[in-house]
Amino acid sequence: MKTQIGIIGGGPSGLLLSQLLHKQGIDSVVLEKHSRAYVLGRIRAGVLEHGFADLMREAGVGARMDAEGEVHTGFDIAYDGMRHHVDLKGLTGGNSVIVYGQADLTRDLYDAREKTGGAVIHGVENVQPCDLTSDNPFITFEKDGEKQRLDCDYIIGADGFHGVSRKAIPRDKIKEFERVYPFGWLGVLSETKPVSPELIYAKHERGFALCSLRSQMLSRYYIQVPLSKTVQDWSDDAFWAELKKRLPEDVSSQLETGPSIEKSIAPLRSFVAEPMRYGNMFLAGDAAHIVPPTGARGLNSAASDIYYLYHAMLDHYKKGDDAGLENYSQKALARVWKGQRFSWWMTMLLHNFPETSGFDRKLQQTDLDYLFSSDSAMKSLAENYVGLPF
Ligand code: APR
Ligand code: PHB
Repeated sequence: MKTQIGIIGGGPSGLLLSQLLHKQGIDSVVLEKHSRAYVLGRIRAGVLEHGFADLMREAGVGARMDAEGEVHTGFDIAYDGMRHHVDLKGLTGGNSVIVYGQADLTRDLYDAREKTGGAVIHGVENVQPCDLTSDNPFITFEKDGEKQRLDCDYIIGADGFHGVSRKAIPRDKIKEFERVYPFGWLGVLSETKPVSPELIYAKHERGFALCSLRSQMLSRYYIQVPLSKTVQDWSDDAFWAELKKRLPEDVSSQLETGPSIEKSIAPLRSFVAEPMRYGNMFLAGDAAHIVPPTGARGLNSAASDIYYLYHAMLDHYKKGDDAGLENYSQKALARVWKGQRFSWWMTMLLHNFPETSGFDRKLQQTDLDYLFSSDSAMKSLAENYVGLPF
């Protein structure tokens, strides 16, 4: 088999790139380990920066997002029983975010690839990117027990944090930076009316909580939990009781509870691998970097990689200009690190760190007081939340 771009991983990163390239007449094949149903069953965040939304529209897959996604022009931070409104639109001169679930967005991308005859091969095993530093890189894999080979001009490693692409880079050619946080998020999805039309991030002495949503009939809530407990330790009742304790009274009294339709614990981690290129393989999305979910940057950081890669590929194939490919890693990482800084900052600001000293707790309180009393600090928060320019 032969194609121009061999993409490992059929998550949002791989599919979006494949669809954007297709619109420009550039061929790709996506190799995905799991079934489509499995990929779509994963519950992930769903706050899209306006720049990401534009990229979806450019890929010709923005119609459902625009029809069904909710434009959010602000959110609340609850602290000390008070709600502080972050007016994203006012603070950024008109920008906002779109709340649209990652599963919906991924389904739209799959539908678009299918409609236009895009090659997405599911259920591939033993995927291995090969000859990365040569002009003829290729990918070997097995499908239904049969060995296959995909020759391509370039390989994109978009196979998430646990994928094979990053691991195919020799250890002395890649550097990894990591911070692991001493807690996780217990998330619950429930078919209940969201407690608030906008998101509420809550800082409480019992721990962080988040009220989010997928639609006006589907709520998504999270609480910070110690990693010593498993999801089986949390009955629905225990979850709702703990969530209520962490929300201001005017919110918890309105909270509609119900059976969870999904419940899971995700550990929090910051991670970056540098550089994001090795020979003719380029890493994108979770394959190269992970953020804690607090600032809703994960999917958006993946989208910015795809933006740079897409334009670099266009310049290469349409203009014979390789500057974008040469600069990809540096450009992508500059924005990735800004997303890392923001996610780390929001995580430090809003969570309880059981081991921290009195000094650190005082700094955290001061950071919150400063934020709520300074228009400049609020502007900085808003500018990062809606997404820095590409
Ligand atoms: N071979 C083929 N596919 C693989 C392999 C492999 N060896 N390993 C993993 N994959 C697939 C996974 O099954 C998954 O569908 O690669 C895909 C990677 O998708 P994601 O993990 O969703 O990563 P990405 O596409 O970069 O999406 C951006 O940022 O913070 C997150 O929630 C956000 O998941 C989103 C991500
Ligand atoms: C979510 O809806 O899942 C969500 C929203 C905002 C975040 C994290 C997760 O910061």
